[in-house]
Amino acid sequence: MNQEVINTDNRSPKESSDGDREKIKSAVEREISERVHDRFGDHPDRGPERSRFFFHRPEHPAAVRERAWRIMKLAREHGMDDADDEAVLAADTAAQAHDLVIRFHEINDSVSPRHGEIDRYRGWGGRAPEAIRTVLNERSIKGNEEASWDELEKMLDDHDPEKKVYTDRVRNLAKKAIAATYPEVPFPFPAFPEGATVIEGRDLAPYLFRTNDGLLAGLKFDQPELTDESPLAVFAVAMGDLAYGGVVDAESFKEHGDEEWAETHPRMIREIEADIAEKNDEASIKEKARIAASIIGWQSAQPGFLLWQKIRFYEHLPGSSNFKTAMSAEYRHFDENILAAADRVEAFKKFIPLKDAVFYTSPEGAYEADQLFRNMVREMHCSV
Ligand SMILES: [Fe+2]
Repeated sequence: MNQEVINTDNRSPKESSDGDREKIKSAVEREISERVHDRFGDHPDRGPERSRFFFHRPEHPAAVRERAWRIMKLAREHGMDDADDEAVLAADTAAQAHDLVIRFHEINDSVSPRHGEIDRYRGWGGRAPEAIRTVLNERSIKGNEEASWDELEKMLDDHDPEKKVYTDRVRNLAKKAIAATYPEVPFPFPAFPEGATVIEGRDLAPYLFRTNDGLLAGLKFDQPELTDESPLAVFAVAMGDLAYGGVVDAESFKEHGDEEWAETHPRMIREIEADIAEKNDEASIKEKARIAASIIGWQSAQPGFLLWQKIRFYEHLPGSSNFKTAMSAEYRHFDENILAAADRVEAFKKFIPLKDAVFYTSPEGAYEADQLFRNMVREMHCSV
């Protein structure tokens, strides 16, 4: 039997092998996409507990994929070595699959300031936040990032057992890229480098925290698996995931932050949806003040969070000076978004003079707590 007979569609052997590769790729892409939509998409028959992914909707991995792809494309245009086809495929696949598994629990402890928030089961290679490590051990499960990689690896084994497309190098890069999305939050918050806290002539001090030594500090999300030695594909996925504040406009940055608050505060969202706004018993008033305070606390951390992301982005940015210039143009929104986040904190303060949380939970503070709550929630686009 000659080749022409085998290739019933009359393509050449080369075309046929390209066709096989495309089939493998589409099968993998399709399976990842189905799982993402099944777990994080909207389903009319889904119960309330499963439809709480305000931030990690299917649009999230799609956006990370687009951003990682743009970085790889720019790198290729600037002649960087590690932006070859395999590296692009690794970044693309990792971006799509990096949040396949998002497990968490809701903190149920009424005396905890984090009552009703969620703790995600973050972790990689035995590294996980202290509280989460205990949970992972108790349940004999891996952190979300590692579990996401495990699922992807199994898919690749199923669809490409001979490693024709997803070679060892592609897999290794994709694994490192997903690992690099694992975030750690150092506490106490680290101090900013000198000079970093003034942007376009505006001093950000009023929107930042202070260390015990009086230095300006902010909420930092490190990615310990991203290092200066990391290949470009790893940088592309890690930054595509976390440094979005550099590449989206102010409205999108604001929305992403609000969605993340909503996703991590499901109890408060349930209360808002259950019309707590209309309830004026003592417990509800206290709760409204707590919700308002939580939103203010969240928003107050945004300028510092993004300032750290900007600093990290440039710390890890690899490549030639031409590539760096192109990347700065691509990630040109950091300053604008940091200033917009600071403006938003200012606007919150104008809604009502901020007072001590104890005031809002006192009978005299009830009206102001209610007003504060309504303004906060309206600003966050929740319906009241
Ligand atoms: Fe993500």
